[in-house]
Amino acid sequence: MIPNSYIIHTFGCQMNKHDSEHIAGVLEDSGYSRAPTDEEAEIIIMNTCSVRKSAEDKVWGRLSCFAGGVPPPKIVAVGGCMAQLLGESIIDRSPGVRLVFGIGSMDRLPGLIEKSRENPVCDLGDINKAFVDCLPYIPESPVSAWVPVNHGCDNSCSYCIVPAARGNARSRDLDDILREVEKAAGSGRIEVILLGQNVNAYGKDLFPRVRFSQLLDAVSGVQGIQRIKFETSHPADMDESIIEVMAGRANLCEYLHLPAQSGSNRVLKAMNRGYTREDYLEEVRFSRKIIPEISLSTDIIVGFPGETDQDFRDTFTLLEEVRFSNAFIFKYSRRDGTAAAAMRNEVPTRVVSNRFMLLSELQDKITSEALRELEGKTVEVLVGGSAKRGGFRKGRARGNQVVLLSSAQELVEGTLVMARVTGTGKHTARGEVVETITKA
Ligand code: SAH
Ligand code: SF4
Ligand code: F3S
Repeated sequence: MIPNSYIIHTFGCQMNKHDSEHIAGVLEDSGYSRAPTDEEAEIIIMNTCSVRKSAEDKVWGRLSCFAGGVPPPKIVAVGGCMAQLLGESIIDRSPGVRLVFGIGSMDRLPGLIEKSRENPVCDLGDINKAFVDCLPYIPESPVSAWVPVNHGCDNSCSYCIVPAARGNARSRDLDDILREVEKAAGSGRIEVILLGQNVNAYGKDLFPRVRFSQLLDAVSGVQGIQRIKFETSHPADMDESIIEVMAGRANLCEYLHLPAQSGSNRVLKAMNRGYTREDYLEEVRFSRKIIPEISLSTDIIVGFPGETDQDFRDTFTLLEEVRFSNAFIFKYSRRDGTAAAAMRNEVPTRVVSNRFMLLSELQDKITSEALRELEGKTVEVLVGGSAKRGGFRKGRARGNQVVLLSSAQELVEGTLVMARVTGTGKHTARGEVVETITKA
């Protein structure tokens, strides 16, 4: 074991991954260093997710490895959304855990570790006062930076546990965000991904109000940032100015992740989503009118309580109509503490599985057809960091499509290239580099 070393396992969304960067930053500022394996680490940290039961089960599975006890000075600590929601009960269920910390107590992590050497500790801090953004962080990527614009969520989608875990919506100050983006650019990052549970609700809680489109406009003016993406947008908070700003700025990518969740108005209402199928389709139509090449992706939940065959057909036809370049399809997972958890009319597992399969098959077909439309075209690709596979280097096009690149020259992570798409598969395109725009 390496003294004063840590390892972090991250289970959640991009915000959760960015929190892990902060955890690393806070620990390294206190003299800890990263360990390569659990065996070598003194502090093992699980940064957890609660969005679906399957996400929690992965963590419980991992924790069960420590059920036989963890000899000091080794410490197993649990943070993130599960910690925020379940608190002390994690220690009761999993006695190998010494420390449960919250998003609101991440800043005090080194002290909490010391305290937990004596007795198990649960300290979550106050989620609504958590200002994670001012903490140091160790970025994962030398090319791309995650920049949160708001935290928490003021909606109450009836299935969703995220607001309970992450608290009320809190927007960051526009100048703070700009300063962070400038810093990222100054350290060589050319891409920023703006993060929030509901990014386009940005500024609703600021006085005077700032619109998300104004923020996008300001961020797009930062020197050196060649690509900007943002996640996740909520259909009820979309406004035309967002699409108009995207159309007018070269560094705002033609990509919009807009979770529809369902194509049935009845289900959307039961989900408390605040828009109709027709509203959603109108947003899609407007986006494509202003940015014809825009790539749209979505999240769908199948098997929400009470979902009938007709409701499901409405979701099926929504995917057929919109033809998303990608859709993340989830089986409904009952989360204690949400409004939907009290709904009695659960859809039988077998029916949910069948709907999930039908929808996934449909979307796989659409995804590959949408990719095929890229064939013969020349697209801009940002070369990623993952290792070469079968002679190819992985990158992402502006519409977020994965492009496997072949090139006569060695491609360095962070290089921006123009590539001609020579072939496509189920989920990826293949491309040949025709021109290097910027070298990393
Ligand atoms: N606004 C957040 C939502 C996080 S959850 C964001 O940043 O994306 C991501 C997706 O998980 C949601 O869009 C939804 O499709 C899915 N999801 C949320 N709660 C769920 C549940 N209880 N069961 C199944 N899927 C769920
Ligand atoms: Fe959940 Fe809805 Fe908030 Fe997203 S916008 S986190 S789905 S409540
Ligand atoms: Fe999961 Fe929390 Fe993100 S529940 S999806 S880690 S906000």
